[in-house]
Amino acid sequence: MLFLPDLRPTWDLEYDTAVVIDVLRATTTIVTALANGALEVVPVASLEEAMEFGKRGYLVCGERGGLKPPEFDLGNSPLDYTRDRVEGRKICITTSNGTKAILCALNFSKRVFLGSFLNLSTLAERLKNVEKIIIICAGNEKTVSFEDCLLAGAIVSKLVGADVSSNGPNESGKFFLSDSAMIVKYLWESVRFPNFHGVHAKKLRELGFSEDVEFAKSVDLYSVVPEFDGNKIVPTNR
Ligand code: MLT
Repeated sequence: MLFLPDLRPTWDLEYDTAVVIDVLRATTTIVTALANGALEVVPVASLEEAMEFGKRGYLVCGERGGLKPPEFDLGNSPLDYTRDRVEGRKICITTSNGTKAILCALNFSKRVFLGSFLNLSTLAERLKNVEKIIIICAGNEKTVSFEDCLLAGAIVSKLVGADVSSNGPNESGKFFLSDSAMIVKYLWESVRFPNFHGVHAKKLRELGFSEDVEFAKSVDLYSVVPEFDGNKIVPTNR
């Protein structure tokens, strides 16, 4: 479990699957877009790259400073990604932290899934048979995000259950937790619901995005698990 994408351990582990989390709001938004029928979501680093995709018929989406750039079609509010807007459309998205974390996740693993509270149980189910998992929190301008950590803890808790007080393998002999994974597990187990009061949640409320913050708390609203293949993000069934 990485509190931030940059906090890569010095040992060089290869993971089977990476899970990228940006609860507020990039991965919540991408899960919503795909659940509402978007064909694919291409994450890019810059506004300029996104505009290039726009010339090829993609919806150009994302934010800087939480706000939609004026020339973009949609911002980063999951509630904007309604079925009538996104069904059958290809989307290109760039956000301040989330899309960067998604792009960097390929350095850790060939398979990259996206997580949010909206798809928590389906995601955890999909991870059950995976041996080496790394959860990468996008964070917030190189600081740790409380909301990302809560979700990371919820995932770890669902995977491992009660059996980690000694941090040995669980009954199936599969799970061994890093210290950061233990920290977020205990965090989740002391809070037990998406209780968002981190710095970025506060900022979003101040910017007028309170409904986004509330929506991002919707546990198991969707059963889509997005996977990034290095080019685009699409729903995966395996
Ligand atoms: C990000 O990628 O930094 C976030 O999704 C920002 C936001 O809330 O729009």
